[in-house]
Amino acid sequence: MIIPKSIKEIVILTGAGISAESGIRTFRDQNGLWENHDIMEVASPGGFERNPEVVYEFYNLRRKQLLSVEVSPNLGHISLSRLQDLFKGRVSLVTQNVDDLHERSGFKNILHMHGELLQMRCVKSGKVFSTKEPFDERTNCPCCLQAGNLRPNIVWFGERPFHMKEIEDLLSSCDLFISIGTSGEVYPAAMFVNLAKENSHCVTIEVNKEVTQVSHNFDYLISGKASEELPKLIDKILNL
Ligand code: APR
Repeated sequence: MIIPKSIKEIVILTGAGISAESGIRTFRDQNGLWENHDIMEVASPGGFERNPEVVYEFYNLRRKQLLSVEVSPNLGHISLSRLQDLFKGRVSLVTQNVDDLHERSGFKNILHMHGELLQMRCVKSGKVFSTKEPFDERTNCPCCLQAGNLRPNIVWFGERPFHMKEIEDLLSSCDLFISIGTSGEVYPAAMFVNLAKENSHCVTIEVNKEVTQVSHNFDYLISGKASEELPKLIDKILNL
């Protein structure tokens, strides 16, 4: 693998694979089931309309699990924070994950393109509130003081991901793009590698325990677990 010494702008994309070793299940490893639910029933506006109680309960349980003592950042998250702290240039992180494990490992200014589990949003005002507690259709909204207006601040299928303009700008100017633990099945994240490669000098690396739908688009594939492969890759970059 050849990474030029001259790199200054690194963009990292993470997916469920990086959090798998922290005890949070990925989406597609169980044949379309996510914690025993059909993904479309718990991650689409239609599913929320049809069955709000199921969707609230689902995210309340995911939040509780995220905050349990069993879940904490692993060496994959920790080595990315080390890269941001020690690299001579800029390191930006775009994550599809809704957990807060990158924050807990010390990474700063993360772009959560699919939202955050520890947030709720008022559907009337669009205001976003932090929460570690369960909420549902009976919870009074902190801004409009009415029940029934809060939803998880999660981007569901068919909804536009957050921060897209900023992400596209970062991709258009990066010279190293690293995609970690994502299946490449969900757009627009699956095409970020193509946007990065519009810079002819940008080097692209995929880290995954399996070959993905988009592996053929990368310059280099690192096959293995994020917690084992990232410490080595990050050392290599820091020693360029
Ligand atoms: N190390 C590296 N890769 C791993 C590991 C690991 N320890 N464990 C699993 N993987 C890889 C799998 O091989 C798979 O390619 O992580 C990927 C997980 O893929 P998905 O479950 O599809 O998760 P992701 O790509 O993040 O999903 C994207 O889909 O459901 C929506 O909004 C949701 O953000 C999510 C989006």
